[in-house]
Amino acid sequence: MQLQKLAAISLFLVSLGHAALLAAVGALAPPPGSSNCSTACGGVDIPYPFGIGPAGCALPGFELTCRDTNNGKKPFLGHGHFELADVSLPDGQARVWNNISSYCNDTSQTIMDVVSFADPYRLSQAGNTFTVVGCQAVAIVGVGDSADNIVRFLSGCAATNCGQRGGRLADGACSGAGCCQTTITKGFNAYQVVFQNYSTVFNSSNDIYNVSRCSYAALMESSSFSFRKSYATSSEFFDADGGRVPMVVEWAVRNASNCLEAQKNRDSYACVSINSACVNSSSGPGYICNCAKGFEGNPYLPNGCLDIDECKEPKKYPCYGNCKNIPGHFDCTCPKGTRGNAFVEGACQKIILTSGVRIAIGVVAGALVALFGFLGWGVIRYKQRIKKQALLRQADEYFQQHGGQLLLEMMKVEGNAGFTLYEKERIKTATNNFNKAHIIGEGGQGTVYRAVIDGTTVAIKRCKEINESKKMDFVQELVILCRVNHTNIVRLWGCCLQFEAPMLVYEFVQNKTLQELLDLQRSKRFHVTLGTRLRIAAESADAFAHLHSLPRPIFHGDVKPANILLTEGLLAKVSDFGCSTIDEKTQVVPKGTPGYIDPDYLLEYQLTASNDVYSFGVILLELLTSRRPFSKERKSLTSMFQEAMANGTLVELLDSDIVDEASMRVIQQAAVLANQCLVVPGTTRPTMMIVATELRRLALADEVQQYPQPPLVLEDLSFTGIGRTSMSTWYGGSKTSGVYGLSKKAVPSIEFAR
Ligand SMILES: *[C@@H]1O[C@H](CO)[C@@H](O)[C@H](O)[C@H]1NC(C)=O
Ligand SMILES: *[C@@H]1O[C@H](CO)[C@@H](O)[C@H](O)[C@H]1NC(C)=O
Ligand SMILES: *[C@@H]1O[C@H](CO)[C@@H](O)[C@H](O)[C@H]1NC(C)=O
Ligand SMILES: *[C@@H]1O[C@H](CO)[C@@H](O)[C@H](O)[C@H]1NC(C)=O
Ligand SMILES: *[C@@H]1O[C@H](CO)[C@@H](O)[C@H](O)[C@H]1NC(C)=O
Ligand SMILES: *[C@@H]1O[C@H](CO)[C@@H](O)[C@H](O)[C@H]1NC(C)=O
Ligand SMILES: *[C@@H]1O[C@H](CO)[C@@H](O)[C@H](O)[C@H]1NC(C)=O
Ligand SMILES: *[C@@H]1O[C@H](CO)[C@@H](O)[C@H](O)[C@H]1NC(C)=O
Repeated sequence: MQLQKLAAISLFLVSLGHAALLAAVGALAPPPGSSNCSTACGGVDIPYPFGIGPAGCALPGFELTCRDTNNGKKPFLGHGHFELADVSLPDGQARVWNNISSYCNDTSQTIMDVVSFADPYRLSQAGNTFTVVGCQAVAIVGVGDSADNIVRFLSGCAATNCGQRGGRLADGACSGAGCCQTTITKGFNAYQVVFQNYSTVFNSSNDIYNVSRCSYAALMESSSFSFRKSYATSSEFFDADGGRVPMVVEWAVRNASNCLEAQKNRDSYACVSINSACVNSSSGPGYICNCAKGFEGNPYLPNGCLDIDECKEPKKYPCYGNCKNIPGHFDCTCPKGTRGNAFVEGACQKIILTSGVRIAIGVVAGALVALFGFLGWGVIRYKQRIKKQALLRQADEYFQQHGGQLLLEMMKVEGNAGFTLYEKERIKTATNNFNKAHIIGEGGQGTVYRAVIDGTTVAIKRCKEINESKKMDFVQELVILCRVNHTNIVRLWGCCLQFEAPMLVYEFVQNKTLQELLDLQRSKRFHVTLGTRLRIAAESADAFAHLHSLPRPIFHGDVKPANILLTEGLLAKVSDFGCSTIDEKTQVVPKGTPGYIDPDYLLEYQLTASNDVYSFGVILLELLTSRRPFSKERKSLTSMFQEAMANGTLVELLDSDIVDEASMRVIQQAAVLANQCLVVPGTTRPTMMIVATELRRLALADEVQQYPQPPLVLEDLSFTGIGRTSMSTWYGGSKTSGVYGLSKKAVPSIEFAR
């Protein structure tokens, strides 16, 4: 025991020394709990690994500061803005105060707020709800990673329809009238709120203003919200806590990806107490420490976990005999001369058996044990066989459920046209059992893996799970898609229906995405001529037009630069379609990407061709201006563009790299086209076919053709960007976008050579 203690303490000192070295502090750091570390601030308890004070008072990353506020001293995360409300060690959670985003009578159509944390904190999915209060608010929340600036998942809702003078509102009911809520995806540490002006978007009357002037949104602790009518009609919600609400964050020691890995490196293992236990973090890589069963206290401190004396808490640990505390648990035995289960009241009985009876019982019991052991062995073998069969049967069930039979029959009738139904095992092998290292894209519609099947590299997309009612639609769409043979559309080779979610196998396109090309252009590392821009736009429009014109039209639903792949020679290939049928209508939250998403769609949640046209209009704007869909001024590119068109100041918005007198006529025409694509409501937008024809005409104009595209040398690089958008695309940060950052990791130097 003593030895164990010593070992734990020295281990701890080693890890402290390590931490101090990291912090580049020469002097020996004070151990946690030393006189120079505060254990409380402003009435909030601060348990280690959190700490306030010199280096060593906290585990790296868990430092807090105690600062003066209007309410006296309060603890803050690091040196940041988030005030800490409280910490819970056992579940690795903390509550912080989050600012409510508000949208009052701003003139801009859309505004955006970003809330982001650094490690070790993540937004809690289970503890929070994205809550929107107002009578005219369409609010979208996008979650992502603050480090790589990528918005990965999106959801949102509309709080509208308060009725005349708030007549439709009801206390406690947050279901659309004046209030709406939606959940976020887990594992991320940043979110963005985008508000859109309901009245301008939907041209509804300004009567709403009689009800409320502002809309509010925040990610907040679910349990601390209960809707009241007055929230929608006044500023009561905002004012209740000075514009703040509690939000739950999940923390963990994120040094190692899980317990197994952490325990390999004892020097930095944070569960230093004897009788502590490691728990994998549920909010991402990392782990938290708990005290082992039967112990309580602080597992992050040497000897922090103390034995619970269960005998002193008979209410929690009932015992109806002799109670004896043992480290980690307790014994509860019947008094001498009785036997039975002392944990049950009145179950201790006087012993009446003679020794002869006992021997007899022993013999019979022994025989029974042998018999059961034999039977058990047989059962186990039988079960193994059954399990194997069940697995096979399940694959078969999934196949049926996803319409596999239907697909086979349709292929029989219509010929299979090079479409392959892949076996489950082949997909598993090709992706190395869906190894994370194979992931090349993640988005609202699914995850994309890079894989090699029969020596050919392919992209495998794992769709969302399929709804029974969608089976027919999905299969019909597959049959149509596999026949699509268009230069500008990524080829669908086949699918596998034997998993819980359908897998689609696509042609693999090696090079870049339009998103990356735009980023290179924005950072002036590469010059893309007007001619090339218009050609890429025309080719993409052509692809969308083709999808829209199929016998059963296919709407893309997530049109954005990251979904337009570029091959060598910058030929555009549209990707990331095929799973949209599955999502449609079965999802209550919008999919798509903020900045590109059609406001019309947010009301109906039903995909139409004109939704794609709108998103394409935004891409056209990006190509003409080299600006991001959202600027630093929190204004959308769309509204800036529409203002500029109205005021005749378009030239100021354009990318100076493509503006000259000769091409201005063409640019003007392209801008008019973009403007038509962005009209709300969408009924008067041109069709994709018209857009494509017009763009092709513009791309071939003499004024444009006179400047040849500087030669391109494309280096070998990984396939990135399906379904991804970079956060910096939204907001004009100068940071490299996440999409580009990802490929940079894989290949040391990727650039278009001039
Ligand atoms: C606490 O800080 C003071 C100076 O700030 C220093 O003199 C003292 O040694 C420190 N105490 C410990 C236990 O580190
Ligand atoms: C909340 O808003 C206040 C006032 O604008 C600001 O000082 C504070 O830093 C913000 N807090 C967070 C967490 O962003
Ligand atoms: C909001 O609009 C109302 C009327 O349209 C106006 O009286 C008020 O000053 C505006 N408030 C702000 C903060 O702009
Ligand atoms: C929305 O647009 C209308 C009409 O342009 C404007 O009067 C109103 O102030 C805007 N609402 C918000 C919340 O900005
Ligand atoms: C809004 O609707 C009114 C009729 O309700 C119509 O006159 C007006 O032109 C519409 N505005 C826009 C921008 O569509
Ligand atoms: C607001 O409501 C009042 C009655 O409560 C009405 O007289 C007034 O016309 C309304 N204003 C608008 C802009 O609808
Ligand atoms: C994290 O790991 C590094 C080495 O990989 C180590 O130096 C550091 O002390 C660790 N931090 C924590 C909080 O354990
Ligand atoms: C933590 O996760 C790893 C990897 O998934 C797993 O091998 C390990 O058993 C888990 N440990 C605990 C304590 O759950």
